[in-house]
Amino acid sequence: MNENIIETHELTKEYGHGENLTRALRGVDLEIPRGSFTCIVGPSGHGKSTLMHLIGGLDRPSSGRVLIDGQDVSNMGEKELAILRSGKIGFVFQFFNLLQNLTALENIEIALMLAGMPEAQQKERACELLALVGLSEKADAKPGQLSGGQQQRVAIARALANDPPILLMDEPTGNLDSVAEDEVLNVLESLNQRGKTIILVTHSSEISARAGNLVRVRDGRIETARTLPHR
Ligand SMILES: Nc1ncnc2c1ncn2[C@@H]1O[C@H](COP(=O)(O)OP(=O)(O)OP(=O)(O)O)[C@@H](O)[C@H]1O
Ligand SMILES: [Mg+2]
Repeated sequence: MNENIIETHELTKEYGHGENLTRALRGVDLEIPRGSFTCIVGPSGHGKSTLMHLIGGLDRPSSGRVLIDGQDVSNMGEKELAILRSGKIGFVFQFFNLLQNLTALENIEIALMLAGMPEAQQKERACELLALVGLSEKADAKPGQLSGGQQQRVAIARALANDPPILLMDEPTGNLDSVAEDEVLNVLESLNQRGKTIILVTHSSEISARAGNLVRVRDGRIETARTLPHR
């Protein structure tokens, strides 16, 4: 098994052309170790979300290659890529994107249904996932009745529907205060201890200080990457 769960080679991404050309990524070689807790940091507009979308297979590079769990996605068709993505990656974004009319449990059940799980198993698995993020007692609450940190934990549980090895997150605590941020961080650390590779973009120095692997993006390039011994 490849020790890097994500690799990029000479990755570039350009938006627009002519006078409107933006070179969002200018040649990124990145290795993200399997099982790591990786934070991507850097100033606003310097290419973090762009990098995130490319390593998650949500968007295509202008040039260069992305390998997700050893598989080169460069020449994959849309359908093949979608299958790879749903098996390998759970996505969590800044805005929780929960369905407001459904309970916490139902929000997760929907994801399990979309992942193709037989109906008879959905409820039990959804309960397990809620327990994993410490929210069993909130199963019947709707998002409006949950705090920001709790809503984000439901979103994390939902992202785990397919039991993907990678959780990819773009500023998952961007809308949270420090108490809620801590709640979410504790859940992410426990998932990391259970073997999930955690990759997140963050502006929070509290989070990046706790990351084992720190990737600093500046001006579309990787400025520095530091890997600490595995915890
Ligand atoms: N869809 C798009 N079309 C055109 N330009 C884009 C698009 N998405 C991003 N850009 C540009 O690419 C550059 C990098 O943007 P990106 O969203 O990756 O930055 P970021 O590091 O995530 O910033 P932030 O911290 O503010 O979220 C910026 O100059 C941005 O304006
Ligand atoms: Mg961004």
